[in-house]
Amino acid sequence: MTKRPKAKPPRAKPKEQRAKAPVLAGVNTCVFDAYGTLFDFSTAAGRYRKVLRGKTDLLTDLWRQKQLQYTWLRSLMGKHADFWEVTRDALEYALDALNLKDQELKEGLLEVYMALDAFSEVKQVLGRIKDSGKKTAVLSNGSPIMLRAAVGTAGMTALIDEIISIEEVGMYKPHPSVYRQAVVRLGAQPNEIAYLSANGWDAHGGASFGFHAIWVNRNNLPVERVPTRPKIVIKTLDELPSIIGLDT
Ligand code: LAC
Repeated sequence: MTKRPKAKPPRAKPKEQRAKAPVLAGVNTCVFDAYGTLFDFSTAAGRYRKVLRGKTDLLTDLWRQKQLQYTWLRSLMGKHADFWEVTRDALEYALDALNLKDQELKEGLLEVYMALDAFSEVKQVLGRIKDSGKKTAVLSNGSPIMLRAAVGTAGMTALIDEIISIEEVGMYKPHPSVYRQAVVRLGAQPNEIAYLSANGWDAHGGASFGFHAIWVNRNNLPVERVPTRPKIVIKTLDELPSIIGLDT
């Protein structure tokens, strides 16, 4: 029997031949999700690492999961409460579940949540977008007070044209009325807007509404199995300027 020649493994293309993310023509506004995209919600538990020790990351994850679940549950139940209340409820649940119930710890964690760190590249990227003459906005579940505090603490007030909270519609993401509110407030068409979210499900929500949705997959997660995949996936916001044509 003659041996078949071994198939050669496909060669990786040289860097410059690799497909680049398409340039989005006609985008005049970049709209950003807040928590996880601009602001790092792991800052809060991280600040208490000495107290929380091995439970630090568990607390960050469970707190976040419960916070999001409660937004979806409240919207489905028709029992809206603002994101601050939801965030506090979720933290209480997480502390309880991890046997960390402690009033002082809870208050301390919430205080940090009001003033989270921004991811390292955020300010510089926002500055480039503003310099180009395009608009910037935040569209978030966060209450207006939370969002103003986060943007202010990060020194980004001059870099964000509009802060849009879901409180304006009383419904949480990914309900289409939330994304529609951005169109109303910004006076732009959905196809003039690049919508950036590090929350995969939220990027799908924005894509489903009709935005040029970009998933900022900071944590290398698998794609969500819900309708309407975002067209573009990036790792950090550093890749955004070239996608909206600022590097050409
Ligand atoms: C927000 C949540 C989804 O900022 O992170 O809207």
